[in-house]
Amino acid sequence: MKILITAGPTREAIDPVRFISNRSSGRMGYALAAAFLRREDHVLLISGPTTIDIPDHADFIPVESADDMYRAVEKVINEYDIAIFCAAVADYTIAQPETHKIKKDAETLTLQLIKTKDILGSARDPFNFRGTLVGFAAETHDVEQYAKGKLQKKKCDLIIANDVSQEGIGFDSSENEVRIVSEFETIKIPKQSKENLGHILAEIIADHHRARQE
Ligand code: PMT
Repeated sequence: MKILITAGPTREAIDPVRFISNRSSGRMGYALAAAFLRREDHVLLISGPTTIDIPDHADFIPVESADDMYRAVEKVINEYDIAIFCAAVADYTIAQPETHKIKKDAETLTLQLIKTKDILGSARDPFNFRGTLVGFAAETHDVEQYAKGKLQKKKCDLIIANDVSQEGIGFDSSENEVRIVSEFETIKIPKQSKENLGHILAEIIADHHRARQE
């Protein structure tokens, strides 16, 4: 099977040396990529900047901004059977990044932010992706309820939800604990290493894809 995975943070440029980003390390997405590769699936990783080694045998497209990631996904998504959106994409970007380094003369500085394009939300329409679509949901409360909302709104087959308010899981940690939400059920996967979790998730996603074909 051919699997596309987005991972890591995006960086939204303020000027040539400064940016807005988030605490995603890329570990969860890279662990998923490694798990699918171990199953001998073909994996494309589209990743924002991380310090993690690219898994052996993965195809790799490095990106910086939300807009770069949008364009990379748009170009290739329809070549894949399964698309998994694990990246922590910026929801807002700088309206007008400066081409020169901003000087620190002023006492205050106001940045105007504008919404980025929703990549996961574009997969079905306008990208017209017909394969198995898996989103993540990073929530701080009412995790399952929000995940169900995203499942419907973004026309996903599965949403993998994590509670990012909890210490020791989610962003930039070595472990995670998730709920896998589908139209019919929610499966809770207990806290464990992202590597282990990657294998469990890869099997569940692959099974779901097979069932969808029948
Ligand atoms: O990278 P790690 O340090 O290992 O951390 C893993 C993680 C916490 C980043 C990961 O498990 C996770 O939750 N990823 C999704 C983070 C997120 O941005 O969630 P969200 O609820 O804001 O977004 C919902 C979904 O829409 C996600 O699939 C996201 O990739 C996607 N999205 C969001 C905004 C946007 N402009 N385009 C998108 O595709």
